[in-house]
Amino acid sequence: MTTQRDRWAELTGGQGGEEYARRFARLAASGQDVHGEAFFCAALLGPGARILDAGCGTGRVAIRLAELGYHCAGVDVDLSMLAVARREAPASRWLHGDLARLDTLGLDPDFDLVVAAGNVIPLLAPGTEPTVVRQLAAVLRPGGLLVTGMGLDAAHLPLPEATVTLTDFDDWCERAGLALRERYATWDGAPYEQGGGYAVSVHARAAG
Ligand SMILES: C[S@@+](CC[C@H](N)C(=O)[O-])C[C@H]1O[C@@H](n2cnc3c(N)ncnc32)[C@H](O)[C@@H]1O
Repeated sequence: MTTQRDRWAELTGGQGGEEYARRFARLAASGQDVHGEAFFCAALLGPGARILDAGCGTGRVAIRLAELGYHCAGVDVDLSMLAVARREAPASRWLHGDLARLDTLGLDPDFDLVVAAGNVIPLLAPGTEPTVVRQLAAVLRPGGLLVTGMGLDAAHLPLPEATVTLTDFDDWCERAGLALRERYATWDGAPYEQGGGYAVSVHARAAG
């Protein structure tokens, strides 16, 4: 584990799992689509692919992808979030660990896709972002995809201000061997415009 607390832990004290699950249950009950991230990933590659849900939280993205026929594993550092995932999908693979030390968790590499949805990147511990991006890239197969969704202003974050710029993020990705392939403003594919407050990005690892 990193000694520095991630921003999600600073916000929730590591006790946010049940409230997070209730929030999404309320959204689903009100008729909102809460599976945009899973459908976005499913449009990129076919069922049977191996997907890592990085910062999986309560497992809502991986659980939906597993229902759609993907082979998923989830990693998160917050035990209260993982407790929900384990309760909702006990047969799935949920690993407790720090994305900055993904290489210590015994995961088989060569994932077809790694998804870090729900502001995982802006909520990492300050200063660990390039390391995490490098670790995520390292578990992708050649040609594999990193899919991220992140707020770029306070209106799209549970934080008072942005913690990450797209320029920095693309630079961390490039240094990790990932090239930007697509970028949108929403999970349903609205075009991203310069200065937008939210970005869904697809980076690809160079094909072998
Ligand atoms: C807002 S939640 C999003 C959860 C899930 N991806 C979703 O979209 O519902 C952010 C998650 O990132 C996780 N996280 C932040 N830093 C992490 C780290 N270094 N290693 C693993 N998980 C981390 C938090 O514990 C939290 O569960």
